Amino acid sequence: MRNSSKKNVLLSWLVALAVLLVMGLAGCEGPKGPEGPEGPMGPQGPAGNDGIDGVDGADGSDGIDMTASACTGCHNNDIIIAKRAELNQHDHATMANSLSRGGSSTCGRCHSHENFRAFVETGSGMEMETVTGLTCKSCHTLHDDENVGNFSYDVLVTDPPETLTGVDISFGDAANTNLCLQCHQPRRDFTAYDTTPDDGTDSVYVTSSHAGPHYGQMGSNLFGLGADDRNGSAALDQGPMAHATGASCVVCHMGANANHKFEPTVDNCTTCHAGAADLDINGAATKMLDAVHAIEAKLVELGWYSEDEDGLSSNASSGSPLGMTGAEFTAFWNYNVIHADHGAVYHNPPYAKAMINNIEENLGMPLTVW
Ligand code: HEC
Ligand code: HEC
Ligand code: HEC
Ligand code: HEC
Ligand code: HEC
Ligand code: HEC
Repeated sequence: MRNSSKKNVLLSWLVALAVLLVMGLAGCEGPKGPEGPEGPMGPQGPAGNDGIDGVDGADGSDGIDMTASACTGCHNNDIIIAKRAELNQHDHATMANSLSRGGSSTCGRCHSHENFRAFVETGSGMEMETVTGLTCKSCHTLHDDENVGNFSYDVLVTDPPETLTGVDISFGDAANTNLCLQCHQPRRDFTAYDTTPDDGTDSVYVTSSHAGPHYGQMGSNLFGLGADDRNGSAALDQGPMAHATGASCVVCHMGANANHKFEPTVDNCTTCHAGAADLDINGAATKMLDAVHAIEAKLVELGWYSEDEDGLSSNASSGSPLGMTGAEFTAFWNYNVIHADHGAVYHNPPYAKAMINNIEENLGMPLTVW
């Protein structure tokens, strides 16, 4: 019995415990107390694994040795002073005939150092009014505030030009001589004067004493481009001359020692014209110039030009326009293509001969036989 009563006491304790447990699990819904304060931060975890090493960068190019000898490689009598002396003799340095145009926004990109540099760098910005002629840094990428650290005589522009008339002229990709074409290119073609360019029979009125392609025409003449070929039987469309494909402005005007007087010498011709003694190869230049003088006499006779001590001056003005037939205009234009290039008879002799015959034919003159 004792045993059973002990069992009963234990049983009632167990029942009471089970009731308490069930109540606890059921969640005795008393009112919720306020949230306790945040516990302290746990201890720091172990360090992660090391990351993977990055790949080595490419080596930089060698720096310039900033010793006096790095400078005197150029700053010596043989180079800078000699080249400066040559350049000073040339119209590039003085802009002898045109510096007054160097500060104009339409002319400055070819007639001054400052506006040429602005044009090369920005494609515009040609409004600087205080200007000088060309200097070393007009044509070379030498050390200055735009090319700090460039200690070479690399040529500033090697790309072919985007021409003002759209004419396609280039000495090729890597040629230093594309630089010259940036400025020595025409400014106008005949459509600036003849507004119906497909019609050779119309009449044309020339109202400007400057009518013509402008004095950079040599850039196009070398490639046989820029003439008016609507009237006349001579074949003007001959493609680029050997002087453009096998030589270039730099080859003939600077030669092997980079002459900065830009003066053609016969040494620069003899690789192709073996044994040549002067620039007038076969007397061809003299013969062409004689024909041009005969044409000029005819232009004076027609009343288009007057002759004075400086040569011919145009009689065209808006007050007294020169009226021409289509064929006469072709002759007038082609004469100006020759006139606007003081070296035309040397630059592209076959093309100059064809233009001379075209002018003679269109003006009813006897044709020169070459
Ligand atoms: C690739 C040739 C070349 C090297 C190398 C060279 N220079 Fe020049 N430097 C020139 C030329 C060219 C001029 C312009 C000369 C002129 O207009 O008659 C010039 C002009 C200058 C001028 C005149 C300021 C100016 O902008 O016209 C200074 C100063 C000068 N250089 C300093 C140096 C120093 C310093 C070094 C050496 C760290 C150096 N040059 C290396 C070619 C070079
Ligand atoms: C695309 C370049 C270019 C532009 C733009 C240009 N010129 Fe020229 N100009 C030349 C070149 C190149 C010569 C030199 C050719 C030579 O010496 O045979 C020249 C020569 C001249 C000459 C000298 C002519 C002579 O008898 O020797 C005068 C004056 C002139 N330009 C005026 C102007 C005027 C004015 C403008 C603007 C309305 C102008 N140029 C715009 C390239 C240009
Ligand atoms: C009208 C543009 C023009 C001007 C201005 C000019 N140069 Fe040059 N120079 C050139 C061209 C183009 C060449 C490249 C000739 C060649 O490739 O044969 C050259 C080449 C040179 C070379 C030979 C470089 C070599 O690698 O052999 C030197 C040196 C030089 N110029 C110095 C000068 C100096 C100094 C001045 C200023 C006093 C100057 N140049 C002004 C256009 C110019
Ligand atoms: C920034 C424009 C410019 C560049 C680049 C340039 N020229 Fe000229 N060049 C002219 C102008 C403008 C004149 C006419 C200057 C004057 O008479 O007032 C001229 C004149 C000349 C003359 C005639 C000088 C005379 O005595 O009658 C020759 C030759 C010449 N340039 C050759 C070259 C050659 C070759 C190159 C390339 C190495 C070259 N030029 C690059 C603008 C330029
Ligand atoms: C085949 C060689 C040759 C090539 C290529 C050549 N020239 Fe000439 N250039 C000459 C000769 C020769 C003369 C006449 C020089 C003389 O009368 O003393 C001349 C004359 C000139 C003149 C007139 C110079 C003056 O005294 O009035 C200019 C400007 C000129 N060339 C610029 C250029 C330019 C710019 C280029 C490139 C677009 C070029 N030449 C390409 C040979 C060449
Ligand atoms: C890359 C070779 C080459 C170079 C360099 C060269 N010429 Fe020529 N030249 C020719 C060729 C090719 C002809 C013939 C073109 C034709 O008749 O179809 C020619 C023709 C001529 C003619 C016309 C000759 C005639 O009988 O009608 C003259 C003038 C001339 N060159 C002058 C020069 C002068 C001046 C130089 C140097 C300043 C020069 N050339 C440099 C290739 C060259």
